[in-house]
Amino acid sequence: MKKRILITGGAGFIGSHLVRRFVRKYSDYHIYNLDLLTYAGNLENLKDIERSENYTFIKGDITDQNFINKIFEKYKFDSVIHLAAESHVDRSINDPLLFAKTNILGTMILLNSFKELWKNNWTNKLFYHISTDEVYGSLGEAGLFKEDTSYDPNSPYSASKASSDHFVRAYGETYSMPYVITNCSNNYGPYQFPEKLIPLFINNILCNKSLPVYGDGNYTRDWLYVVDHAKAIDLVFHKGKNRHTYNIGGFNEWKNIDLVKLLCDLLDEKLDRSKGTSRQLITFVKDRAGHDLRYAIDANKIQSELGWSPSVTFEQGLSKTIDWYLQNKLWLENTTSGRYKEYYKNQYNNV
Ligand code: NAD
Ligand code: DAU
Repeated sequence: MKKRILITGGAGFIGSHLVRRFVRKYSDYHIYNLDLLTYAGNLENLKDIERSENYTFIKGDITDQNFINKIFEKYKFDSVIHLAAESHVDRSINDPLLFAKTNILGTMILLNSFKELWKNNWTNKLFYHISTDEVYGSLGEAGLFKEDTSYDPNSPYSASKASSDHFVRAYGETYSMPYVITNCSNNYGPYQFPEKLIPLFINNILCNKSLPVYGDGNYTRDWLYVVDHAKAIDLVFHKGKNRHTYNIGGFNEWKNIDLVKLLCDLLDEKLDRSKGTSRQLITFVKDRAGHDLRYAIDANKIQSELGWSPSVTFEQGLSKTIDWYLQNKLWLENTTSGRYKEYYKNQYNNV
């Protein structure tokens, strides 16, 4: 009998890369993708694998306990890889309760259904929780987040993710549920919704719109190509140690302003615009509330224990990403029509 794996949030950015990888690579698994298709979920992201015989899409809400109980009863998932979440920090500042509901309550409801199904026999079962480096809070100019760094979240988003991590651990300790957690740094790549820095700025450069850099732009993030995150999840799913946490990062720190300038220059080149054209779009705007100064991951544990390392350099990954957005203008147009316009107006006051 095929192993039945539930991936939540599989129609989103990282989830769609993970679903694609598992469906293509593991014909002996059946992959169930559960997604509510919020503004961030898009079945267009999975067009190439949607007819695969080892794939089933289920539309539904992780915060609906009755519905979640029913699908666990029906499909008897052996493992869960949980990505479904509200994922954008700016939106969490405007609507913290939604983040608590989806990210905390939604995770607890999945944990509960999984426990009820397998509590008498956990053999070969796994709850894999996908989390973020933001739970560790902010670094100063030096230092790296390690797996034993204390949690110190600053935004409603990171507080909700931190809380969900604690509940996963608590179910492991209290009910002996096998689990792993990974905390990853900033992802970028194809299919990322254009509210996050890189796709938002690519889209704005294509449309000759301002590039709204928060504050002075001297904030640092550690960037990882999304396909390398999916590769890391695959490794941890198969080889990670029960009840362990692994940090995942790109060994690739960039100040926002330097990254934005690089993006401008790469796009000028690809669009045949004269050098410096896109940099003129850079506009410094009001800072994000509670903006974390710096994130940087120490990814030595996953590297030394499981042999993972990123497969592309940042320059290669960024170039592939820009090419993808240039070749998928229809995807970008569809994603930025309708409700997106309203979001953009509220968030950026149309700068
Ligand atoms: P995303 O916003 O692109 O996708 C989230 C998906 O979850 C969407 O498809 C959405 O429809 C679905 N979803 C939302 N609420 C739901 C609900 N109530 N029920 C069912 N489905 C629901 O997010 P992403 O960037 O792909 O992130 C995926 C996961 O990885 C999240 O848990 C996030 O915290 C984590 N993460 C993201 C990054 C990053 O840089 N993007 C880095 C580290 C960790
Ligand atoms: O670190 C992992 C996290 O990375 C994930 O858990 C989150 O889901 C993901 O959204 C991301 O969070 P960030 O807040 O770091 O990503 P974002 O792309 O929103 O912002 C990156 C940096 O760029 C941050 O310092 C804020 C800044 N920024 C962002 C936007 C959208 C701007 O200066 N202007 C902008 O318009």
